[in-house]
Amino acid sequence: MFDTATALNAWYEAHARDLPWRRPPGAAMPEDPAWPYRVWLSEIMLQQTNVVTAAPYFARFVARWPDVAALAAAEDGEVMQAWAGLGYYARARNLLACARAVVAEHGGRFPDDEAALRTLPGIGAYTAAAIAAFAFGRRALIIDGNVERVVTRLFAIPTPLPARAEILAALETITPAAGPDHAPADFAQALMDLARALCTPREPKCLACPIASQCRAAAAGNPQDYPVKPAKAARPLRLGVAWWIEVGGEVLTMVREGRGLLGGMRALPTSDWRVESLAAEPPITGDWRVLGAIGHGFTHFELRLEVHALYLPTRPALAGDWLPVHQAAGAMPTVFAKAVALAIAQRGQA
Ligand code: ADE
Ligand code: SF4
Repeated sequence: MFDTATALNAWYEAHARDLPWRRPPGAAMPEDPAWPYRVWLSEIMLQQTNVVTAAPYFARFVARWPDVAALAAAEDGEVMQAWAGLGYYARARNLLACARAVVAEHGGRFPDDEAALRTLPGIGAYTAAAIAAFAFGRRALIIDGNVERVVTRLFAIPTPLPARAEILAALETITPAAGPDHAPADFAQALMDLARALCTPREPKCLACPIASQCRAAAAGNPQDYPVKPAKAARPLRLGVAWWIEVGGEVLTMVREGRGLLGGMRALPTSDWRVESLAAEPPITGDWRVLGAIGHGFTHFELRLEVHALYLPTRPALAGDWLPVHQAAGAMPTVFAKAVALAIAQRGQA
């Protein structure tokens, strides 16, 4: 009978990458009491970056803080500095918090089961499973983006990601039993290596794949259709009003406050952008006309901006800068350039 784990294992024996936080395929767990620390440190770093970038950081960390007690005793600022370049300082803070919790609550030894590991700062489902398998040889089902890709293809899982239950059920059927050879650890690392070497996001090399005969997506000829991406959440709609105040061929503009979205950018004056429809108060009273509305997609919401216009014979006492109408669009981000274009088009018809 063809066994996925056996075939994968044979491939891994020949192709395993040699990494400083990995034991060779089939080898015993290193006796080094700092081994779980090294596994943990590497897994946190690898969530941040790739193997090539992580390797020198890993080497520097273990040279300077060779075990969890040393890291727990480190100055916060020194660890932050050593982490710089890996980004996401929350991870570095959690790293220290975790090291200190291991020392304070577990006598300086990482717990060896997933449930206890998950109670530690910065250790979620993935990291707990990875440490349980890679540091302690436990049978654990480890799902990262690479494993996700291989498994959804192997089983042609049609569920959009995260599809956690389906992937876990599939992994359950192919993950080998724990034993003196630590097969679950090798199996998981083999899946990760296979994903990078052969089962790549685009144009996977199925002809060279040791488990192609088991692969339903390869059989159907459509591995690139997996994993199925989650449907995009519908972006909420926000509503607002932009005020076009024109005097003698010039329009009132301003620089938006704040450092958030469009902060510091030149713009037409606007109302707040809200979810519910609004009866926005214009900056001055007058004979306002509704010219129409423009739509603009931001990352997290869709904006519908009505453009209201007021044409005056002399400049009102309003803060801002007056720009020639035909230069306004060029000075502004797209959303306001659209509003300017609408105002100019309507003006031609006025
Ligand atoms: N990515 C995350 N953990 C890894 C590991 N142990 N080996 C290879 N790639 C990884
Ligand atoms: Fe991935 Fe192709 Fe192998 Fe299937 S046969 S696991 S799609 S590389």
